[in-house]
Amino acid sequence: MKYYLTTPIYYVNAAPHIGHTYTTMAADLIARWKRMLGYEVVLTTGTDEHGQKIERAAKAVGKSPQEYADTISEEFRKQWQTLHLGVDRFKRTSDPSHHKVVQDLFRRCRDSGYVYKSSYTGQYCVSCELYVNDAKPGDPCPDCGRPTETVTEENFFFKLSAFEDRLVELYERDPQFIQPETRRNEVMAFVRQGLSDLSISRTTIKWGIPVPDEDRHVFYVWFDALSTYMSAVDGEGRWPADLHLIGKEIVRFHAIYWPAFLWAAGLEIPKRIFAHGWLLFENDKMSKSRGNIVRATPIQEVMGADALRYFLLREVVFGQDGSFSYDALVGRYNSDLANGLGNLVSRTLSMVHQYRKGVVPAAKGESTAVAEAARTAISAVKSCFENFEFSKGLEAVWAMLSVVDKFIVEQAPWKLVKSADPADQDRLDAALYTAVEAVRVAAVLLSPVLPESCNRIWSQIGMEHLLDGYPVAGLEWGQYPAGHAIGQPSAVFPRIDAKPAVEKMRELEDLETLRQAALVGKKIEPAGMAPGVQPIAETIAIEDFVKVDLRVGQVLEAGNVKGSDKLLLLKVDIGEAKPRTIVAGIAGAYKPEQMLQRKVVIVANLQPRKLRGIESQGMIVAASLEGGSPVLAAFLEDVPVGARLK
Ligand code: ME8
Ligand code: MG
Repeated sequence: MKYYLTTPIYYVNAAPHIGHTYTTMAADLIARWKRMLGYEVVLTTGTDEHGQKIERAAKAVGKSPQEYADTISEEFRKQWQTLHLGVDRFKRTSDPSHHKVVQDLFRRCRDSGYVYKSSYTGQYCVSCELYVNDAKPGDPCPDCGRPTETVTEENFFFKLSAFEDRLVELYERDPQFIQPETRRNEVMAFVRQGLSDLSISRTTIKWGIPVPDEDRHVFYVWFDALSTYMSAVDGEGRWPADLHLIGKEIVRFHAIYWPAFLWAAGLEIPKRIFAHGWLLFENDKMSKSRGNIVRATPIQEVMGADALRYFLLREVVFGQDGSFSYDALVGRYNSDLANGLGNLVSRTLSMVHQYRKGVVPAAKGESTAVAEAARTAISAVKSCFENFEFSKGLEAVWAMLSVVDKFIVEQAPWKLVKSADPADQDRLDAALYTAVEAVRVAAVLLSPVLPESCNRIWSQIGMEHLLDGYPVAGLEWGQYPAGHAIGQPSAVFPRIDAKPAVEKMRELEDLETLRQAALVGKKIEPAGMAPGVQPIAETIAIEDFVKVDLRVGQVLEAGNVKGSDKLLLLKVDIGEAKPRTIVAGIAGAYKPEQMLQRKVVIVANLQPRKLRGIESQGMIVAASLEGGSPVLAAFLEDVPVGARLK
């Protein structure tokens, strides 16, 4: 039995955040679960590296597109490693072995008559070298404001329109092909409106895979990207994929383009596409361009990766949108993991140690209520995980845990142990056995969601041989061997004090923002400079300099940022109707009261950035030597608010 599943390949225009982690963690859960069911699983992920955006971003920092892509791709690869996600293949679109697969797919489509050349007309910004989607002739470029030009270029087109009926027929015949149901309905309605043919190449881009026999053209976006699902397992006999796990915004490309490309090429189509919802942060879709993102590493450092896995899969109904917040994360951890599961494990183990010298007695008359609850949980988890209903499956396990808690309170082992009646001693044996067995069953069922923690639980109940892989098919109540000795208990989920934990995570998150910003910075060759003096940056043209709008501002209000000893929160008048909110990393050098009424220099046209959840609408200019503390730029003569520095 084989099972092949994929995550999307992520764009390299920014480093990973927990939106990407969400998909990859869920894929890891499914992979672990399928392995427990006896499948031989391959999970692939990777990075989507071509196109004009990367070409431009790389150019802006004086790097080649390949160098730029290398840096960010490595961030993704390391992220999955750090989180211990079981990625079997990591495929990059810049990998030459991928190029071959894309070109083969194209040849097959061309040879079967589904590709033709035609002219493509769009609004193009010559300065930014970008097509502006949905623009009309004369519309300005949203990036630079210059007027766009109507440009016509020769493209290869794919006959997507030829596949309308076949696609609808597929969705009707196989309702599971696109899940959940709402996504299937959307796609179906979209296809029924009629499909236009699709442009699949460009002559205006250089950073891409050349179209065979047509060197001027490179493949455009989806033809290239979707093919990674095949190139990632090329030659392994794994195709077709059993599951493409994706976010809902890319369902059309997967459910419409991809089967059509494959049919045109005479290849098999994937078996299933599941599109989950969006993770929202501060009521907005978490996204690189909005700057409202949260990364996994700070959470892992403070709370462990399992806490994040549990939160994302329990709190958010898989398939729907859901919100992330640090407070909710710590809240769920404390209520469900520390007080719930963790407490049951430590209570159970310490009773076995105290009352039976660490040896689990044989059950003389087990609890039927708990056994029944365990059987219910086993079958619920099996069916829920099969249907991607992870939160429901987890609820079923917690329902069982509450039956166990109730049972322990009813039996009151701490009273039974004092009784001289042999019947009470039998009841105590049964109670202890029942609790240990319930912990074992729960830990098996939860292991795909909480792999590290369940390994620890197994060690503590003396079942080290279960580590990393329990065959779930044979899981039944009553398999804990009586007379077996348990290990030493230690808290699996220590309680976390919310306030300092949240503060710590936000602080680490800010550091991560700065680290990632520096990642793709300009390459600066070291030169002979005085100690601490940074090398002079690369030469720029005057046009580049005038893009930076520096203004004189006056600080109207100043205060500390809650939970940070590095940041100050400022309101700065730069001559606009409303003062700007600016978060500045100068708290180590300036007290809020020193800032009041002070004239400062502000970078006024910098993209806003969120720090500690506060949108900073500009940057304050300060000077420092490498590692030294900042000194604010100021004027000797008086200067009016709003004056521009040139
Ligand atoms: O779309 N909530 O790459 P991408 C939930 N390269 N999931 C999120 C998320 C959020 N806020 N943000 C990102 C691309 N994701 C293409 C895909 S596939 C052949 C090519 C996850 O970097 C989610 O899985 O924009 C989403 O579909 C994916 O990251 C988009 O990543
Ligand atoms: Mg995206």
